[in-house]
Amino acid sequence: MVYYPKGCDGLAVINVSEEELKEQRFFIQRVKAVTHMFDHKPLAFTHSYGCQQNVSDSEKLDGMLADMGFDFTDSPENADLVLYNTCAVRENAENRVFGNVGALKHSKRRNPDMIIAVCGCMVQQEHIAKRMKERFPYVDLIFGTHVLHKFPEMLYGIYEKGSRLICIPESDGVVAEGLPVRRTDKIKASVPIMYGCNNFCTYCIVPKVRGRERSREPAEVIAEVRRLIEDGYKEILLLGQNVNSYGKDKGMAFPQLLKELDGIEGEYIISFMTSHPKDCSYDLIDVIADSRHISHHLHLPVQSGSDRILKLMNRHYDTGRYLDLVDYARSRIPDLQLTTDIIVGFPGETYEDFRKTLELMERVKYDSAFTFIYSRREGTKAAEMEDPVTDEEKGRWFRELLEAQGRIGENAYARYVGKTLRVLAEGRGRTDEKLLTGKSRQNIIVDFAGDDALLGQFVDIRITKALPWALIGELLQ
Ligand code: SAH
Ligand code: SF4
Ligand code: F3S
Repeated sequence: MVYYPKGCDGLAVINVSEEELKEQRFFIQRVKAVTHMFDHKPLAFTHSYGCQQNVSDSEKLDGMLADMGFDFTDSPENADLVLYNTCAVRENAENRVFGNVGALKHSKRRNPDMIIAVCGCMVQQEHIAKRMKERFPYVDLIFGTHVLHKFPEMLYGIYEKGSRLICIPESDGVVAEGLPVRRTDKIKASVPIMYGCNNFCTYCIVPKVRGRERSREPAEVIAEVRRLIEDGYKEILLLGQNVNSYGKDKGMAFPQLLKELDGIEGEYIISFMTSHPKDCSYDLIDVIADSRHISHHLHLPVQSGSDRILKLMNRHYDTGRYLDLVDYARSRIPDLQLTTDIIVGFPGETYEDFRKTLELMERVKYDSAFTFIYSRREGTKAAEMEDPVTDEEKGRWFRELLEAQGRIGENAYARYVGKTLRVLAEGRGRTDEKLLTGKSRQNIIVDFAGDDALLGQFVDIRITKALPWALIGELLQ
């Protein structure tokens, strides 16, 4: 049986009301009363695929689970509840989820009381939800991206009725403030500042599964960041699919928000993801350049170096505008770390177009680049376009791109050797377990010898060696 809790057939409201949140807190107590009857403390295994936004959503789902009486385990095998928060951005992300959900069949057979839940971007697509429901009859709960805050009610529905539950309303999206958050990291914290996307890049599924762009109230964001810094967090990552269009309807644009946050007292770093070049303003670059705490790292996805392809992608900028932005950013922030995303093999892309991407990479000299082969997403505009180039050919271009970026990035960090960087010590070394690892203001990994007592502190490190993806240095006393 499929049971839909009320409110699952279309959510018009943008802000989830206080009454609704109160109701969910009531369901949290009811689930807690159920789990309290278990002969052991219930264990949850939760896993998040995809972007930081999903990780941040999972911290809220985990927060609700903790309030409902759950502890957490690293293995799905002995869990009472398994929750996968899924990503739809490329086909291989989806295949991984199908594989992992398939593998749970045996665990469920061994432990029929285990509850299996799948949520997030992937199941927000109708055809995937249908497939998930039919192929995996042992999945108890499937819910979309707009009803995250109703998780306690849905879980209670399963415990009470013992039947499957599928809740995937279409919606432009909601904002739910005040949900519990379970953060496992004590040094870094993510703060979503906006949700959804209005850009409809023709290849991308995100606007379809995440709904329309909506910003959180500036006062809510500022209060949350202030609280986190007071609680001792040292790196705050602001999240949004296109942070540059934050606050258009809230009377505070993104550069102003950054300025406000930069005014908070203390030593900390504020970084953000992701900047869309179409909305990246010179004003934003000035604010970063003049700030005390904003990271000197700009992730500015270019996607392609061909103006013809950028137009087909609906990106709303050309390479001329992009390069002007890059030049201005580098002139105002000389130690800027610049990274990007690139798609190879967009429908109709020719080798000639692809060469232009290589040329742009040579011109910009990115510190690093995330590169993807185009993946057809059902329901997007690009899915309807002619796509004559074979997978083998695209694979060759992709390897050529990797090789070019490998060469460009190889010595990108050499400019730091001999310099001293202020570094936030975060954990065990990434190049060597015996070292500590940290992050510089430019968001570069820096490994150095030091005592665990330094974790969570800022230290001065003299750089002695550059790798393509990290720096090695010595602690200055
Ligand atoms: N909102 C962010 C990107 C989110 S998705 C932005 O606009 O910058 C992260 C990256 O995945 C994108 O930048 C793009 O390079 C890649 N991507 C998105 N859809 C894709 C698809 N259908 N095929 C291949 N790569 C894709
Ligand atoms: Fe997708 Fe484009 Fe929105 Fe980024 S800006 S999430 S690539 S539609
Ligand atoms: Fe994936 Fe959804 Fe993020 S599709 S990239 S998890 S917004």
